[in-house]
Amino acid sequence: MFSRIARPQAINIVGNVARNFSVSAQNNRKVAVMGASGGIGQPLSLLMKNSPLVTELSLYDIVHTPGVAADLSHIESPAKVTGYVGPDQLDASLKGCEVVVIPAGVPRKPGMTRDDLFNTNASIVANLAKACALNCPDAMICIISNPVNSTVPIAAEVYKKAGADPSRIFGVTTLDVVRANTFIAELKGLDPSTVNCPVIGGHAGITIIPLISNCTPAVQFPADELKALTERIQDAGTEVVKAKAGAGSATLSMAYAGARFAISMIKAMNGEAGVVECAFVSSTVTEASYFSTPLVLGPNGMEKNLGLGSLSAFESELVTAALPELKKSIKKGEDFVANM
Ligand code: NAD
Ligand code: LMR
Repeated sequence: MFSRIARPQAINIVGNVARNFSVSAQNNRKVAVMGASGGIGQPLSLLMKNSPLVTELSLYDIVHTPGVAADLSHIESPAKVTGYVGPDQLDASLKGCEVVVIPAGVPRKPGMTRDDLFNTNASIVANLAKACALNCPDAMICIISNPVNSTVPIAAEVYKKAGADPSRIFGVTTLDVVRANTFIAELKGLDPSTVNCPVIGGHAGITIIPLISNCTPAVQFPADELKALTERIQDAGTEVVKAKAGAGSATLSMAYAGARFAISMIKAMNGEAGVVECAFVSSTVTEASYFSTPLVLGPNGMEKNLGLGSLSAFESELVTAALPELKKSIKKGEDFVANM
């Protein structure tokens, strides 16, 4: 069994949280959101602006960032907000950034897989990763853009080509954990903020592997309910895509999840002990060269990979089933950069 994940504090967007929080020098963090005008980018930027741990917020997009930045800059929290628009301002948007969150790219419409986004999003992520490698090579890079199972290897390969260290690149799979916690709480009548279920593997369909046997508090389900719950977590993105009926995919819950991950990262960078989040990273835990597992985060990013932990027979079968698709998506990303 791996150690239980310390649940990060809820992101409080009400009240004067920022005003009541004394910000010390070590808490000063410059954060960039790339794709800041989008469905995820705007609420994510709001949550980052609301965090007292952020002192500078750099908003980049190919459209609309001056307006988004002007709007957010009126909020009474310490972060100084600057909008950057278009490729000419890309380098400037990244200078001095310590955490870069990337939700740039197109979302799914009903009937599409995440992999169907590859043709558009691969080059968007590759270009942004190249700019990060040049302008803020030491920053923690948090990739939201789909397909995460390919965009993370793309960013890592771009870093290697640029001579930068790819170990600070994280695929954000936090939304899968957030969903698992919520659905388990609903079924068991629990307060969702007290539930903590690790989700490992990747971020697409059967590669999403909730470890319900490792949930805190411990929960039990009959086999048929466990299968249905697992499948709901795996298909939750599609559930939102269908409900939005052509207007995109999860944005608000993703903004919450992205902010949770970025704020956990900043806390760890600031020296807070025991910060654990799942993320899709370069990995030797399985035969897939990238895999999401719970990670202890620290001042330099991943401090320790907590690995798979102890899996039930059902969960072991899910890992086995996920590996071929994961390896294929990883290779597709790596090949894309090799042929650029
Ligand atoms: P959106 O279309 O609302 O916003 C995307 C934004 O990216 C737009 O503002 C667009 O102008 C911008 N953009 C496009 N090209 C750019 C470039 N080259 N540089 C900078 N910005 C650029 O889409 P969304 O709903 O915000 O989703 C964004 C991405 O996040 C999608 O790929 C989606 O599949 C993914 N997503 C991932 C998760 C996850 O769990 N990892 C969850 C939800 C959505
Ligand atoms: C999600 O899980 O909501 C995202 O990956 C968006 C999608 O396309 O499902």
